[in-house]
Amino acid sequence: MARYIINADIVRSKIDKNIYGNFSEHLGRCVYEGMYVGENSDIPNVNGMRTDVVEALKKIKLPQLRWPGGCFADTYHWMDGIGDKAKRKKIVNVHWGDVVEDNSFGTDEFMEFCRQVGCEPYICGNVGSGTVQEMQEWVEYLNSTGTPMSELRKENGHADPYGVTYFAVGNENWGCGGNMTPEFYADNYNRYAGYLHNYEKKLFKVACGPSGTDYNWTKVLMEKSGKRMDGLALHNYTVDPMHGWRDKGDAVDFNELEWASLLNEANRIDTIIARHSTIMDQYDPEKRVALVIDEWGTWFNVEKGTHPAFLYQQNTLRDALVAAMELNIFNLHSDRVRMCNIAQLINVLQALILTDGAKMILTPTYHIFDMYKAHMDANLVETYLECDDYEYQGIKTPAISQSASVNENGDMTITLTNIDPNAERSLVADIRGEVYASASATILTADKMNEHNDFDAPDRIAVKDYNGISLLGSKLSITIPPKSVIAITLKK
Ligand code: AHR
Repeated sequence: MARYIINADIVRSKIDKNIYGNFSEHLGRCVYEGMYVGENSDIPNVNGMRTDVVEALKKIKLPQLRWPGGCFADTYHWMDGIGDKAKRKKIVNVHWGDVVEDNSFGTDEFMEFCRQVGCEPYICGNVGSGTVQEMQEWVEYLNSTGTPMSELRKENGHADPYGVTYFAVGNENWGCGGNMTPEFYADNYNRYAGYLHNYEKKLFKVACGPSGTDYNWTKVLMEKSGKRMDGLALHNYTVDPMHGWRDKGDAVDFNELEWASLLNEANRIDTIIARHSTIMDQYDPEKRVALVIDEWGTWFNVEKGTHPAFLYQQNTLRDALVAAMELNIFNLHSDRVRMCNIAQLINVLQALILTDGAKMILTPTYHIFDMYKAHMDANLVETYLECDDYEYQGIKTPAISQSASVNENGDMTITLTNIDPNAERSLVADIRGEVYASASATILTADKMNEHNDFDAPDRIAVKDYNGISLLGSKLSITIPPKSVIAITLKK
């Protein structure tokens, strides 16, 4: 029996809603077809933006969306994507399949998409192949009034400034963003960021951070640029270590050993965050600078028969467990982790939504974001969990992950995962510091580890009400079925 204590009256930190953000790149069918189908499409749209997708994102209250990349951002020149669409420059998308990018979705279209969804835009500027002037003018176009760039924005039909807050100064500058050393990038960050003016909105400037366990990158950036940034962006994908990056394994066709290995890898983000945070603490003990995990999620081989550079993969219950576990970990580190972007929104990597022409399905990962949305902007409360491991062929990972928060109405949300595919876990949570009158729960689970939705069966795996919990006084008895995620709401 696991031991679980929740101190409802001890607040650790606020869970910033921006932890539940997403990422949209000009890659494969994410932007074109996924988000944007054009004004003349037969697929229902408003100003070219897919209505079904916009509605699905409104439902999960998507807080912020990163764009235009990724590696695409390192080659993107924003002026190619504004003005008369017929005259926009066509370029080759060199990172993602050498396909023609006609720039019909540019800055003003991205702002329109965010407006319809009701989310904040998070723009990634080009340090790799762009100039300081280009980046400075982009911010001027977005946010200023009475300037040459605001006149240009007006000519394009947008009189009012957009008031963008979140702006990243480069992407993966240790790799596709210029192959820089941390020292060279930090100097560049200081130079570029210095020319990004605050107009009506103060910018939240995000510096390119480390890849995975590159702790030296964090140290150098904090030392040389820590005082000039608001966020440092870590990228960490979950790739099965039994496979590695060359042959990453299949998204759907996997066995229990691959299940155990991938979920153990997902759990490693806890240590990675803790170590980067410890380094950041040395330079920023007040935790002013956020750790922004603006690319995370599973990465498998592309689905057979699809374009190899489009990174399309199916999404199963296993992906849902990865998302649920990592989101619990992000919540637990919300004193430092305040913004995250799973990769990516639609049709790419660990997508929330898949489309096929006019058809659209919600993935198990989407359902996790739906179940967890009550954590957004709630207060993380202190918890203590002792549980056994799920062990398979020597790979051991704690069977249960958890986080608990209390919202402004005093309601508590508890999210729990059981990664053991064979056995349930039972626990009695001792709720201290507050009295609750009622408890209800939802669950995401399936009979098979690789259950997934497809265009013929869009609801094979979906969130259901769950009655395997009971509240008696301060004791909350919980049974977590094998391979499942549950979200519990306690009301006063
Ligand atoms: O998300 C796919 C790619 O992964 C992004 O373009 C890049 O930043 C990362 O390497």
